[in-house]
Amino acid sequence: MKTVCCWQGLVTLIFIINICFNASTRLTEHQVCSLCGGSVLNETVVGRFCSSSAGWIDGRCCLRNVKTGDPKNIIGLDLSNCSLTHVDNLQEASSVFMIDLSRNPLINISDEVFQGFLDLNYMILPEDIVCPGGNTSWQKVEVSQGDRVCRGQKNMCNQTGWLSTNCPENSLCAPYGPGFYECSCAENFRGYKCLRQGEFPALRVFGPLAASTVVMSLLLWATQRRKAKSI
Ligand SMILES: *[C@@H]1O[C@H](CO)[C@@H](O)[C@H](O)[C@H]1NC(C)=O
Ligand SMILES: *[C@@H]1O[C@H](CO)[C@@H](O)[C@H](O)[C@H]1NC(C)=O
Ligand SMILES: *[C@@H]1O[C@H](CO)[C@@H](O)[C@H](O)[C@H]1NC(C)=O
Ligand SMILES: *[C@@H]1O[C@H](CO)[C@@H](O)[C@H](O)[C@H]1NC(C)=O
Ligand SMILES: *[C@@H]1O[C@H](CO)[C@@H](O)[C@H](O)[C@H]1NC(C)=O
Repeated sequence: MKTVCCWQGLVTLIFIINICFNASTRLTEHQVCSLCGGSVLNETVVGRFCSSSAGWIDGRCCLRNVKTGDPKNIIGLDLSNCSLTHVDNLQEASSVFMIDLSRNPLINISDEVFQGFLDLNYMILPEDIVCPGGNTSWQKVEVSQGDRVCRGQKNMCNQTGWLSTNCPENSLCAPYGPGFYECSCAENFRGYKCLRQGEFPALRVFGPLAASTVVMSLLLWATQRRKAKSI
């Protein structure tokens, strides 16, 4: 009888530890959502967007209604009135559609902060902060009541002028966030400027995992350092 009692106690203890552990990892999952206090309010732009897209609110975020714990599911981010003086890492929210940074004492924001934000299509900024990538990266830029609104991210691969020809031959251009694009080698081409043809030898030597790391590093080095440019 006594042993059963102890076992039950132990099981309960493990259960409680588990819950605590899960709760703490859950909280750190979307740090960006608790960057400032409060939560998204119903009557704000992000709040209305969230209810119209059937999302659910977690702190300052609107999450897409899919399985929890997927870090890719932030679709709205409301960091307005948050006393932010600078913004440098929002990578957690790179799948976001809408960001509100209005009513913050921001001085400037680097374009790099939004690199890779492919779905970002609506931003509210303090009036004196330019839209990331500049006016030419957006379909519409408006200033009203102290806010700057950037709407409709333009595809940098589909612009008239010098940009469209900026990816080397044998490579494909793909958008990479406001003002950014990346060039990746077409199938069967590789190397700097995608000039060499044929399979990458390391694939056979190192096996898939190591090879993908090498390919990723090379791609990152070649495409982002050299060719992904802000305009
Ligand atoms: C916001 O909307 C939710 C869901 O529609 C509702 O439960 C809640 O009461 C609303 N809050 C306010 C302050 O209107
Ligand atoms: C901004 O936040 C402050 C303090 O959190 C609050 O008193 C104020 O009403 C907020 N302003 C707006 C416009 O929401
Ligand atoms: C922001 O402004 C400060 C001072 O004007 C400058 O030193 C800094 O390089 C700027 N940062 C960015 C990301 O433009
Ligand atoms: C960008 O657009 C805004 C709003 O239309 C305008 O006020 C501003 O002068 C433009 N900036 C540039 C550099 O063209
Ligand atoms: C490029 O832009 C034109 C006009 O803005 C549009 O009709 C066309 O579908 C775009 N093409 C791609 C691949 O986005």
